[in-house]
Amino acid sequence: MTSLKETLGLRILAYGSVLSTYILIVIGGYVVFSGSGLACGSAGPDSWPLCNGQVVPTLSGPVLVEWTHRLFTLVVGLFVLGTTIVAWTRYREEKRILQLSTASFLVLLVQILLGMVTVKTALDPLVSTAHLAVASALFSAVILNAITVRRLTGSSRLLPG
Ligand code: HEM
Repeated sequence: MTSLKETLGLRILAYGSVLSTYILIVIGGYVVFSGSGLACGSAGPDSWPLCNGQVVPTLSGPVLVEWTHRLFTLVVGLFVLGTTIVAWTRYREEKRILQLSTASFLVLLVQILLGMVTVKTALDPLVSTAHLAVASALFSAVILNAITVRRLTGSSRLLPG
């Protein structure tokens, strides 16, 4: 029987992925409704990965909103990548967790690229819609993974360590 303690790390990462993705989606909504999507510029490397040509821009108004959205992607990235690494190193027997965490990570990479394209195309409606669609897919994947991780806790199928 696997104890709650044994799976604590995986659970923190899986639940953290859900919570951080949810927060980022809400911040993304605020980027749209406050009209801050192009606050870091819209052409060349000055607009992405830099923001108005700076690594850390002057943080105020729309720039603060857009940059917070980008920076928080890092938080989501740490949780999702962490979940995937722990799944591959400690839970290889658990195919569903392996599949869902890997899928989440791949979807996250697509989403980051789409975020870049959203900026470079000056918020093309099709690209922005795709960015929203992939955000929903990512949210679904991390929720499913968290549910799977929770179900496995306490299961005798799990190998400790
Ligand atoms: C896990 C990663 C990300 C998630 C879940 C996410 C999610 C979202 C969501 C839900 C929106 C609102 C979409 C809408 O209501 O139409 C949005 C907007 C936006 N996101 Fe992201 N985003 C992510 C990463 C990024 C990155 C890395 C960038 C890089 C520049 C970016 C740039 C933008 C921009 C510019 C908008 C505004 C689009 C517009 O005004 O039409 N996003 N994001």
